[in-house]
Amino acid sequence: MSETEQAPPGVDITVPSPARMYDYILGGTDNYEVDRQAVETVRKQMPELEDAAWANRGFLQRAVRWLTLQGVRQFIDIGAGLPTMNNTHDAAQAVAPDARVLYADNDPLVTAHANRLLANSSGTAFITADFRDPDGLLGHEVTRATIDFTEPVALLAVALTHFVPDEDDPWGLIRQYMDRLAPGSYLALSSITSDRQMDKAVGTVREVYSRSTAGARPRSLREIERFFTGLEIVPPYEGAAASLTYVGLWGAEDPEEADSEGSRWGYCAVAKKTG
Ligand SMILES: C[S@@+](CC[C@H](N)C(=O)[O-])C[C@H]1O[C@@H](n2cnc3c(N)ncnc32)[C@H](O)[C@@H]1O
Repeated sequence: MSETEQAPPGVDITVPSPARMYDYILGGTDNYEVDRQAVETVRKQMPELEDAAWANRGFLQRAVRWLTLQGVRQFIDIGAGLPTMNNTHDAAQAVAPDARVLYADNDPLVTAHANRLLANSSGTAFITADFRDPDGLLGHEVTRATIDFTEPVALLAVALTHFVPDEDDPWGLIRQYMDRLAPGSYLALSSITSDRQMDKAVGTVREVYSRSTAGARPRSLREIERFFTGLEIVPPYEGAAASLTYVGLWGAEDPEEADSEGSRWGYCAVAKKTG
């Protein structure tokens, strides 16, 4: 977006936003100079940035397709972001046209974008809501009109929880959401990791995002595993153990081929609520 265009309400074009930075990394146009500069600073220390974002995006799409094939027909996608193509409802409705998706995000530009993008999509709804407010998000009238809480739901928290500091207990928040979903529901979650990355690159990610509207906290495998406590993790690809994997490998036909430097920046899993 050009700086001379009127920014939508609530959008501050002087502070980078993770949603707009992610959009720029993926080649979108819903971003401003301040976002592009922030991304380019990160890219200097993390040249595989674009690969990392696409590997994460691929996880989201493959997981949604797989979940729909398991019979899931309802999705709550928190931290939905700005991508213009191949969103959750596209992946789900390609398998089951009756699949419904509730998108939620707390970025004002995502609100403006979602209203434009979803105007003609059936079975989708968007709310401006904060992940840290489960009561507000799940109790929202649009959520209740879109989601039948007596039936299984897939909760998507893809590249979201690393924007939530430990002090806000993202693990407890995920548990609160899952507690309210019917048995047979799923959690699909990915997070950036600091494991096996160069300190300088991790430091730059932290530093640049600390100057954005939400700081980033790359977490260890152990910390990311904790999000799935009490849930049954599904094997991420044929022949794999039921455990977390790198984002590019989840659902990959050829995991060796899918392995890349970028993919190793994110761990993910899909897990079922059985009880
Ligand atoms: C990196 S993008 C991920 C987009 C999409 N989920 C994906 O993985 O392709 C992270 C998104 O999370 C949103 N976000 C960050 N903190 C949030 C919060 N507390 N509540 C709701 N959304 C949040 C940001 O606005 C951004 O759109």
